[in-house]
Amino acid sequence: MRVQEQAMRVREQAMRRALIIVLGLGPMLVAGLLAAQNIDYQPDPSWQAPAPAAARPNPQAGSPELAAGGRKLFLRICARCHGAEGGGLKNAADLQLPVVQRQTDGALFWKITNGNQRRGMPSFSGVPEMQRWQIVLYLRTLAAEKEKQK
Ligand code: HEC
Repeated sequence: MRVQEQAMRVREQAMRRALIIVLGLGPMLVAGLLAAQNIDYQPDPSWQAPAPAAARPNPQAGSPELAAGGRKLFLRICARCHGAEGGGLKNAADLQLPVVQRQTDGALFWKITNGNQRRGMPSFSGVPEMQRWQIVLYLRTLAAEKEKQK
């Protein structure tokens, strides 16, 4: 009987310890994911939109309210690599960085359309063109968000 009681106490202690570890690490993990950002990202110099593509204006530039829909699309198809706020997980680009944001709408649209398979960015030519422009609209709000946080 005593032996059984002891064994139970040991098991209870082990479970309590495991619970403390899970409760302690969970929030740390979440915080780590939220803060994840690929701030050292450098664009591939050999992945450049041709001048005519870079010069194309965003046909939705006059409708900033469409950015909300762009965010929905972004969360659905881009966030698994770039993170919900575009900070970039692993080797995916931090889309908030000036090196990305100073490119034209047309250049970003071209990069989304064509991808850079060699470095892990898929092509999204299958996403309807208007939705791709809408995502570009959302990408522009990421830079504004960053300014607000400062
Ligand atoms: C499978 C992972 C993955 C997905 C999904 C993905 N990306 Fe990327 N993306 C990357 C990687 C990796 C790079 C960096 C490519 C490089 O190093 O040249 C990148 C680069 C980019 C760049 C270019 C940054 C630069 O160098 O100028 C843009 C813009 C971009 N992604 C937007 C998007 C958008 C918008 C979506 C959703 C439609 C998306 N990505 C989905 C992995 C991904």
